[in-house]
Amino acid sequence: MVLGVSGGIAAYKACELLRLLTESGHDVTVVPTAAALRFVGAPTWAALSGKPVSTEVWDDVHEVPHVRIGQSADLVVVAPATADLVAKAAHGLADDLLTNTLLTARCPVVLAPAMHTEMWEHAATQANVATLRARGVLVLEPAEGRLTGADSGKGRLPEAAEIFDVCLDVLVRGIAAEDLAGRQVVVSAGGTREYLDPVRFLGNRSSGRQGYALARAAASRGAEVTLVAANTTLPEPAGVKVVHVETTEELRTEVLAAAGSADAVVMAAAPADFRPTSVSAAKIKKADDGSAPSIELAQNPDILHELSHRRSREGQVVVGFAAETGDDTGTVLDLARAKLARKGCDLLVVNDVSGGAVFGSADNEAVILAADGGTRDVPRGSKTQVAHAIWDEVATRLQD
Ligand code: CTP
Repeated sequence: MVLGVSGGIAAYKACELLRLLTESGHDVTVVPTAAALRFVGAPTWAALSGKPVSTEVWDDVHEVPHVRIGQSADLVVVAPATADLVAKAAHGLADDLLTNTLLTARCPVVLAPAMHTEMWEHAATQANVATLRARGVLVLEPAEGRLTGADSGKGRLPEAAEIFDVCLDVLVRGIAAEDLAGRQVVVSAGGTREYLDPVRFLGNRSSGRQGYALARAAASRGAEVTLVAANTTLPEPAGVKVVHVETTEELRTEVLAAAGSADAVVMAAAPADFRPTSVSAAKIKKADDGSAPSIELAQNPDILHELSHRRSREGQVVVGFAAETGDDTGTVLDLARAKLARKGCDLLVVNDVSGGAVFGSADNEAVILAADGGTRDVPRGSKTQVAHAIWDEVATRLQD
């Protein structure tokens, strides 16, 4: 792999990306620009990658590095990509080792732009980004938030872990076809909390990873994505609108609002089924006599059921998840088929949790059951691979 680094303050975040790439076993050649070295020096890149680093085409000329590095790469990722680097890439300029590498690479290329909002929004940059995307380069949307100085806006480099996930996805699947372009999708993720008092809650172990992988995968396939996230601490997927919620009722409100015009809704969240009937305004104190309070619970609304039975749009595809264990009344798949019918959704992604935990793990395996009778086995793989299998099934069911 080639990690290109151009000259922006976010170059320091590329060190973390490099670490993630090398620690997961990838062979990474770092190609910084001369300007990048003003932010992070060559010894850092050399030490972290275990390879010499150069910026110019004039080093080791007998090895023809300006052609060889690009030709032999399986993936080139540039993070951060400055406005200048994006412009050079769009116009085919080749005045240093990185821009030569971009011209000679025939593998997938991922650019993670980072710059001030004005620069990102400038018509010149937007035209360059459009040119690159039309040529099949994956240009990530910058994240929103604090920029170099006290100002904030769109233009931050997405988190290293986020770019890392995109790179792994591209290595497995290549640059995804934009088969969800023009589609609006809603994904829920994480586990809701139901408060007993200001500091205590009933919650569950859902990490939100599968939902985040779904949001990222949909964005990479061109969809406009709203991610309703309950109590997650994961890096925000690039180019995705994230709405944070805590309780099942808040999740319901935000999912239903976003679902209004959506082509598909995927309920990957684990909403708490019950909530305390009352929330104490003050912290509940321990009683002197050693007794414990009883907590009366009320049932929460079933959002998936509601979405499925009151479709806000004709042809909207609704997807649910089910973590099942078999019992005396039936196998995992028997119970899941019954749940699919009860919930009324189009697809149910079934995780067999009899053997071990799915929660928090990077991997998953599933069976996707369809209301039209179909069954698809998704072999063990990353949550990103499972996410793409789900979107494949959704895509075939979307109407024009
Ligand atoms: N779900 C929901 N609203 C709830 C609870 C669950 O939308 N209040 C959705 C989850 O997001 C997931 C699916 O329903 O897509 C999970 O189903 P499961 O947790 O098995 O639902 P339960 O209603 O708890 O199942 P059962 O009917 O077996 O009790």
